[in-house]
Amino acid sequence: MRVTVGVSGGIASYKAAELVRALQRQALEVHVVMTEAAIRFVQPLTFQALSGNRVITSLWDQQGAPMEHIDEALWTEALVVAPATANILAKFAHGIADDFLTTMHLATRAPVLVAPAMNVNMWEHPATQTNLEILRQRGVRVIEPGSGDLACGMVGAGRMAEPDAIAEAVLNMLGHRHDLAGETVLITAGGTREALDPVRFLGNRSSGKMGYALADAAHARGAKVILISGPSALYPPSGCETVQVTTADQMREAVLNRMDEASIVVKAAAVADYRPVVVSEQKLKRTGPLTLELAPTEDILAEVVRRRHPGQLIIGFAAETENLAENGRAKLLRKGADAIVVNDVSGDHAGIDSDVNAVTFLTLSTAIEMPEMPKRKLADRILDEILSLRRPKQMVMELEDSNGLEEFAVRRRPVIVE
Ligand code: CTP
Repeated sequence: MRVTVGVSGGIASYKAAELVRALQRQALEVHVVMTEAAIRFVQPLTFQALSGNRVITSLWDQQGAPMEHIDEALWTEALVVAPATANILAKFAHGIADDFLTTMHLATRAPVLVAPAMNVNMWEHPATQTNLEILRQRGVRVIEPGSGDLACGMVGAGRMAEPDAIAEAVLNMLGHRHDLAGETVLITAGGTREALDPVRFLGNRSSGKMGYALADAAHARGAKVILISGPSALYPPSGCETVQVTTADQMREAVLNRMDEASIVVKAAAVADYRPVVVSEQKLKRTGPLTLELAPTEDILAEVVRRRHPGQLIIGFAAETENLAENGRAKLLRKGADAIVVNDVSGDHAGIDSDVNAVTFLTLSTAIEMPEMPKRKLADRILDEILSLRRPKQMVMELEDSNGLEEFAVRRRPVIVE
């Protein structure tokens, strides 16, 4: 995605360099436009070196195309002005177009975000506040300045928001969070098949839709995705490495082979719990009643938990038809995962093979209900909760009043990585 960072002239201009880096870390392409005042604070070369692109400093720059302000206005998918001085806010509010940034601002249909930075009196001045109100009403997003010591020696509001916070606001504005950039997410999906003979198998109704939606969502949020899938009629999501398997054993092998690469493992697959002890080499004939002897398969999720590396998040799924919360929590304890996504598969409507689902995201201390919604949307909600497991509050486990949790806590390694 493409972002234009407008830098106007203030002490905080140097912080725009950090903003450019933060946006690039999210795999965004960044152009920088500087006002004349801004180049008195920071050299355009700084931004050129960081962004890898020529920095636009003037409407009359002969190097650019004759209509560069229009080209840039059409190119960009988000305009963020950081720092935004009182002067630039006033110009934006009143439609003044007397340099590249202000002209481009009028010419673009892309969303606009401003990160004001100025002296506290200038910030509190009714003219500035009125201009901000005009901009807000027009749909411009404002990321409020913080309070503290200001460069002018005064104390109060006016300090530009931190570059990381501005970058996050830009991503939200774009509707594209890249909060999984740098992560590798291993996802299992679909059902497995256990052969009875050359033409028959024991399988289940899992379609793979939930796992594929998770893979697609994780990829869209910047993760490297390894999707290990049982047989599925779905087209593999683009940008994901898909490993096709058939049996529970093959799925186990593929997961164990690749799990060390992953920072997050999500086991959405419906894995067979039993496999036939004998697989007939020839097609079984109808000779009257038939009794199958079945042997349990390995529990892949439990094995992944045993072999996890520090910081790795492991999320299971649970398909239940009754006593959802109780069974889900018991499964969470038994398996030792960080969380379990509990699925009600008793009805026909949502769940297995459906495009929608309603689930409960269960951790030791929380149960987050996610009402029925399309699986792709649900995938994002689940990823949000998975990421929130990294927040320190999750380390505080409510052990007092829960049976068996002490044992669980011993088996469980901390999930904090930073
Ligand atoms: N799972 C697994 N290996 C198995 C069976 C299940 O890794 N052999 C994983 C699934 O991918 C899922 C979780 O364990 O993330 C729970 O699956 P589920 O079928 O609901 O539970 P089971 O462990 O099979 O328990 P039960 O069938 O008794 O409810």
